[in-house]
Amino acid sequence: MSQTFIMIKPDAVRNKHVGEIINRIEKEGFKILGLKYLHLSLEDAKQFYKVHSARPFYDELCKDMSASPIVAAALERENAVLHWRDVIGATDPKEAKPNTIRALYAESKGANAVHGSDSDENALLEISFFFKGYELVK
Ligand code: RTP
Ligand code: MG
Repeated sequence: MSQTFIMIKPDAVRNKHVGEIINRIEKEGFKILGLKYLHLSLEDAKQFYKVHSARPFYDELCKDMSASPIVAAALERENAVLHWRDVIGATDPKEAKPNTIRALYAESKGANAVHGSDSDENALLEISFFFKGYELVK
């Protein structure tokens, strides 16, 4: 078993896709270890995405991610990181395969509905950014 960290981004929360995305998480066989609904501050978003601080889209990304509430979750499954990335599809929804979450719900490359960790190592770092140990079920 392995873990991944996911967010339902502000655009998907505003567009009322939280229920459908959580339903998909369950249908894909993930166990929910932790789940929370929160509004990131601009400083929190900058800290979370600091790996992208040199990229041209960094300021807009942090502004968008702190514009309105998100859902954050720690998930467990066989091959969790890669499976979630298959389920969400390409960063740009125009390139995402049919029935992926981004093909179904994303507005654009910037407002692309969901986040997923890109490695097992980053999954653990991202989970610990959002959850204290007691907030995760065993
Ligand atoms: P994520 O980290 O959110 O799961 O997305 P990802 O791995 O598919 O994409 P990544 O390269 O890590 O980029 C992080 C987020 O930045 C926004 N982005 N905007 N306007 C642009 O060219 C651009 N490129 C990336 C997206 O919201 C992307 O998910
Ligand atoms: Mg990424």
